[in-house]
Amino acid sequence: MDQSISAQEYHDFRAFLESACGIALGDNKHYLVKSRLGRLMAESGIPSIGDLVDQLRRNSRPGLREQVVDAMTTNETLWFRDNAPFDILKHHILPELCGKRMRPIRIWSAACSSGQEPYSISMMIQEYQGSNPGCLAAGTQIIATDISPTMVKEARAGLYESAALARGLSDERKRRFFTKKGDQWETKDEIRKRITFSEMNLIKKDYHGIGKFDVIFCRNVLIYFSCDVKRNIISNFSKALEPGGYLFLGASESISGYSDLFEMVRCHGGIVYRLIDK
Ligand SMILES: C[S@@+](CC[C@H](N)C(=O)[O-])C[C@H]1O[C@@H](n2cnc3c(N)ncnc32)[C@H](O)[C@@H]1O
Repeated sequence: MDQSISAQEYHDFRAFLESACGIALGDNKHYLVKSRLGRLMAESGIPSIGDLVDQLRRNSRPGLREQVVDAMTTNETLWFRDNAPFDILKHHILPELCGKRMRPIRIWSAACSSGQEPYSISMMIQEYQGSNPGCLAAGTQIIATDISPTMVKEARAGLYESAALARGLSDERKRRFFTKKGDQWETKDEIRKRITFSEMNLIKKDYHGIGKFDVIFCRNVLIYFSCDVKRNIISNFSKALEPGGYLFLGASESISGYSDLFEMVRCHGGIVYRLIDK
């Protein structure tokens, strides 16, 4: 794509993107649109953003919508990102849930990217069970979802390059939870077995069908959304949580101004939001 994007094209593309996945582009992100979509448009023979929006509106090319959303999402992630959420899970939430639940504990990683978040949760659960035998006896289920089909596929495969593993994973955990497969490292079954991966767009009217959770991780994705979209997602999370359930957001994200259904709990160097019991 050589040519510049006109004001009208940019306006129309922004509107498409926000309605498709909630991502609210700022005023001056023309370079981002060009760099993220250049290859897809060249390969598909689409000459301009105007033509792209036109095809998206007419739904004339199967799969184009998904490919555009996939290309526009930011998938940056790492193991045990920010540490504090995982410390809170280990020292505050799991001890609270342990023994109280006669059913499996359910945890949702709601924007899982390439899998580092749900696998980190699973490693934490595995370690916790090891040092607290008999706890979480009914098991733990982790549901990992993302809008990006490419990311869900990568996460499900559980195969990582050494460089990706080095971002936040200790050598001890690497040895314990991964096996070498060719040039890559594969997650062992002991941390894979409790995770189910699927595609899910958080921009849905409601989250019926996914069930209730004790803990939701929705980290580093709300920053891309408008206030109305955030409010709707947080409201949906409040309905998807068990009474007293916990919600983790990213380090630069906050619930303040979006919902009064949660109380903020500060502990172990971080913050988690607890659904207030009615
Ligand atoms: C920056 S990554 C964060 C990954 C992980 N939660 C973390 O904190 O490391 C944001 C993820 O949100 C996903 N995402 C963006 N819009 C979404 C939507 N509407 N529904 C579900 N996932 C979405 C992207 O595909 C991307 O993988």
